[in-house]
Amino acid sequence: MRKQLTVGSLITGRSIPTTLQTTPIHTKPASPANRTDSRSAARLQGGQASVRVKQRDQVFHVHAVPRETLLSAALAQGYPVAYKCQQGHCGKCTVQLMEGGSCLSSPTGQEQQKLGSKLTQGYRLACQSTFRSTIQK
Ligand code: FES
Repeated sequence: MRKQLTVGSLITGRSIPTTLQTTPIHTKPASPANRTDSRSAARLQGGQASVRVKQRDQVFHVHAVPRETLLSAALAQGYPVAYKCQQGHCGKCTVQLMEGGSCLSSPTGQEQQKLGSKLTQGYRLACQSTFRSTIQK
C-alpha cells in the first residue's frame, strides 16, 4: 500500500491513524443512458441514424427505430425520459430536438395543440413523435 503524505504525517514521530489511510475508491461506470460525452455520441451515431434531444438538463442520443415513438425508442434504449400520460395531454415528455429531426415524422395534431409555437423552436412530444418508416442514414 502506498503511504499518503499529509502535513501531519511529515511531523517527526507522528504516524497516520489507520482509519485515515487511503483506501481505493471504486466508482460505478456511467450507464449508457447517462453518457453524454462526445465519444458516446460518435459511437451511437456511427452507422445508424439517431436523434439528439434535450429534456431539462439531460441530453439523449436515441437510435432511430422506424415507426416507433421517440419515447418508446428512448425508453427501450435505457434513457430516463420523463413522461406521464403517453397520450399527448400532459406535456411531461416534451423534448427539444438538437440534431436529427429529419428522422421524425411531421408533428401530430396533438403536438400542434399542446406545443403551439414551441414546435418552431424544435420542441416535440416524445410520446407522439414517431420515427419515419424509412430513415436516411
Ligand atoms: S407523456 Fe403526456 S404528453 Fe407525452
